[in-house]
Amino acid sequence: MLIDQFPRASKAADFVEGQQVTVHGFLSGKRVKGSALAFADIQIDGGPKIQIVSTFKKQNSPAHAAHTALRSIPLHSPVSVTGTVAKLYGTPSPAESSSTAPGSFPDGVSRIDIDLESIQPLNVFPKDIIVSKDVQFPPTARHLQIRFSDPLRSRLLARPKMALQLRQSLDRLGFTEVETPVLFKSTPEGAREFLVPTRRAGFAYALPQSPQQYKQMLMASGIRGYYQFARCFRDEDLRADRQPEFTQLDLEISFATGEDVIRTVESIVSDLTQSLTTNFTHVKKGDEVYLAPKRVQEPAEAEGLDIQPCYTKPPFPRITYEEAMTRFGIDKPDARIPFEIHRLDHILPKSFVSMITDLENPVVEGFRFRPQQEDLPESGPSAAMFDEIMKNLPPALEKNPDGAPVALVIDSRKPLRGLSPLGFEGVAALESGEPGLEEFADLEDGDVLVFQARENKPFQGGSTALGTFRTLVYQQAVSKGLLPRDLSFRFLWVVNFPMFTPDNDTDPGQGGSAGFSATHHPFTAPLTDADVELLATDPLKARADHYDLVVNGVELGGGSRRIHVAKMQEYIMREILKMTDQGVAQFSHLLEALRAGCPPHAGFALGFDRLVAVLTYTDSVRDVIAFPKSMKGEDLTVKSPSKITKEQLETYHLAFAGKK
Ligand code: AMO
Repeated sequence: MLIDQFPRASKAADFVEGQQVTVHGFLSGKRVKGSALAFADIQIDGGPKIQIVSTFKKQNSPAHAAHTALRSIPLHSPVSVTGTVAKLYGTPSPAESSSTAPGSFPDGVSRIDIDLESIQPLNVFPKDIIVSKDVQFPPTARHLQIRFSDPLRSRLLARPKMALQLRQSLDRLGFTEVETPVLFKSTPEGAREFLVPTRRAGFAYALPQSPQQYKQMLMASGIRGYYQFARCFRDEDLRADRQPEFTQLDLEISFATGEDVIRTVESIVSDLTQSLTTNFTHVKKGDEVYLAPKRVQEPAEAEGLDIQPCYTKPPFPRITYEEAMTRFGIDKPDARIPFEIHRLDHILPKSFVSMITDLENPVVEGFRFRPQQEDLPESGPSAAMFDEIMKNLPPALEKNPDGAPVALVIDSRKPLRGLSPLGFEGVAALESGEPGLEEFADLEDGDVLVFQARENKPFQGGSTALGTFRTLVYQQAVSKGLLPRDLSFRFLWVVNFPMFTPDNDTDPGQGGSAGFSATHHPFTAPLTDADVELLATDPLKARADHYDLVVNGVELGGGSRRIHVAKMQEYIMREILKMTDQGVAQFSHLLEALRAGCPPHAGFALGFDRLVAVLTYTDSVRDVIAFPKSMKGEDLTVKSPSKITKEQLETYHLAFAGKK
């Protein structure tokens, strides 16, 4: 028989004990039990476990031929198997409510045993690809990574289910899905763009860093609630949570304030987390945690490998940027971390302060780390962990001109219990237990006090050195078992960000000459009338009506109330950001749309890859993208980007400028 002629797969309703069925899948396991009995597994994603039972009584019978074929087919080959249903495990849904699509399986069934009648290989898995339990396939073979990693495949399967749930919620709330162009134009919205040259000499499209400007134009077009799963492109330095192309669930509401948007986002996120509890088993195998679709009682549940997820219920807590930076040293705090930052310079002796920093009149902050390991004998494990952290400090912390962090481990065998750098005076001040600083007076062996200085000036940017160090300590403590691994999801909002941030070397900003750029994008509205006034007098103090959604230290999304009056938008671009006429003209389409009686509006974009990554218990968005880019922005499987040919250069009227 030709390989492309093989029986159609059976449908859900056909799976009745005693009935003949055909299933298609990969031959994923074989267990030979003597000369006339063998078992095999067929791997079907999202389907029940299929066990094939192969036995024969007579030589040269059809059963014998099937048995021989099964034994000869290499593992991992795709096969078509026909046989009789021997046993169904679970409670199958009634035939009339089952799917009629070929390849479907009855709901409520976790395993099906089939007595083999015939088996046909549909291709052969080659011998030179070695598959073992711990094999790590290279990124050049992403298809093998996906095929042989249950956690990776389960995340790719969970992703569209999550998108579907979000679509359903937004549809229920009356939102309209609108697609906007991917071939956009270059505008100084904030991030570095990718250009797409055209055959028209000197002209290029730019890929959108987000559909921000189009969605605001849709608000001026009379659309009440817009959403879109939008592919976005940003040419920025890559990290575990960043890809040059990524997906946002983008939304915007007209006649709305930020409050309306926050409530909408809370509602769709909570629908989603509820559906994850209902429809998935959260499987924990060793260090790996992932979601498996719930069919019936999954083996994970049976084996006690399932965990009960715990999500913050709306309304999510809200904190201001200022408070987040003060208490946690970061604008995307991980609410699972059990220790907070406190300001301490007023109780620390000058001699100690000058030991840890060269700054004049610095702010000194600190935190108390306390391990939560049962029966910790003494300070050993904490000391060892901090030793290791200090030896491997990231360069930004080690070479920080404000000074590196200093950690003192409490150890009652040492002079002043390990706090001698503070001197008697410093220890006495700590032990006085000033209100708010009581935890510094209540010290046990194994506790660690961390101190870090910084310049005495308002917060800027995403984190302080101590905030970064605090996160590092938490992650290390969890990985070393000094703190428990907390699998809960702690959602919160960070609000009232500064409108502007001083220019830096990494973000292109809006290219104005003010020395600062919009913290998020130049369309964000000032928070209050007082902030509008600050625009003219002290713009770096003005706060924006911007809100970020954060979970477990990850910025999931951000949004704001927008400037909806053209004059105000132009004032901010021209007078405050000091953009050139040419820069402002790049936004003329938006200014025209606002001028045409655009209603007040506000919106939000959820980083969909990050959302799927966090909720499926992985730190890397690469684990939820089928074909992600490497840290260098390359797709190593297809080897992109590829070299431009001479012909292409000519077609697009391009030339190499040569190395700078
Ligand atoms: P923002 O730039 O904050 O806002 O992006 C929103 C969310 O998108 C995700 N994200 C990314 N995910 C993966 N890789 C990246 N390179 C990447 N960059 C951003 C993050 C982020 O929180 N137009 C505004 C939204 C608005 O104001 O409505 C915007 O794009 O999760």
